[in-house]
Formats: sequence, structure tokens, C-alpha cells
Amino acid sequence: MKKIVTVLFSKEEIEEKISEIAAKIENDYDGNELVMVCILMGGMVFMSDLSRKIHKTTIIFERLVASSYGMDTETSGAVKIKLYPGQSLTNKNVLIVEDIVDTGRSLDYITRYINAQNPKSMKICTLLNKPSKRVVHGLYIDYIGFNIENHFVVGYGMDYAEKYRNLPYIGILHK
Ligand code: IMP
Ligand code: MG
Repeated sequence: MKKIVTVLFSKEEIEEKISEIAAKIENDYDGNELVMVCILMGGMVFMSDLSRKIHKTTIIFERLVASSYGMDTETSGAVKIKLYPGQSLTNKNVLIVEDIVDTGRSLDYITRYINAQNPKSMKICTLLNKPSKRVVHGLYIDYIGFNIENHFVVGYGMDYAEKYRNLPYIGILHK
């Protein structure tokens, strides 16, 4: 079946939003070193652009891979970490960088894992948030780019069956 993508946020809107988030992060961390943990693959485009707008804070890159969706648009519910961070997060200021928070199951699992390492601080940054789909409640997200309705979105790092990640904008996927 042919799938159509309509633009939800343009390249320019995303860039402006990322500048706002970067300014808040610089202000909050006030020159303290930060370990940005990118949740791959979806978070990579966002983290790449966000980190390059932060200049007053030393940034260390880290990543992990969590699985939740498989190849469909609905979450399977079970979360696993498939690739662990390569460095210790103990006593570090950790900022988790996500593309989108949907049910919250992935982040719930990831934050438990990171907290168990005793970081100095742990915050969450997501470009998109879908509050209507939340299953795990009580997750506090420190930095949110855009709150969106219950659409399945692609582009700017986000995929459908591993495709569309390279779109420079965020689009709604219509089946
Ligand atoms: P959650 O565990 O349900 O919060 O799902 C989080 C992960 O599912 C995100 O990090 C994305 O990788 C993926 N995901 C959730 N919603 C979408 C979407 O609309 N488009 C693409 N990926 C999504
Ligand atoms: Mg993700």
C-alpha cells in the first residue's frame, strides 16, 4: 500500500525549537559537564543538531539502543536494552535524548537502568511527546520540543520500518 507523508513540523520550525531547548540546557547546566545519552536510532538526528547548539557546556556523547516497537507502528510492550552505554554513568550529569515519548515504556525502563548506575543527575529531553498515548504515568520530562496528537510520525530520525529517518522535516504517515 502506498504511504503518504504530510508535513507536521518543517525544517525551520524544528531548528527554531532546538535553539530554544539548547538555550535552556545551557542555562540549567551552567557550564557543568554533561553526558548526553542518545537513544538510538531515533534520537540521533536530534542529538546531533541539539548538541551543536550548546557551546558553554562540555558535552560527552553516549548512546544506548532499546527495543520496543519492532517493525510496526504499535508498541509490543516489552522493552529490552540491546546495546548498553560504553562508559560508566556513575556520578555524571546524564541527559537522555529521545526522539519521541509515546507510551513511556521505553523511558521508564531506560531511566530505571540509568538511575541504578547512580548518576549525579538525570534529566530527560525529547523532541516530541504524545501525552494521549501514555501508559506509564509519573514520568517527568524536563525538556519537551512539541506535544503532538496521536499521529504516527516519521522523519528527522524517526522511522516506519526503518525508513524515512533521513527526512529533514517531521511528517505524519498516512497509510
Ligand atoms: P514508548 O516506549 O511507547 O514511549 O515508545 C518510544 C519509542 O517508540 C520512541 O523512542 C520511538 O523510537 C518509537 N515511536 C513512538 N511513537 C513513534 C512515532 O509516531 N513514530 C516513530 N517512532 C515512534
Ligand atoms: Mg526512540
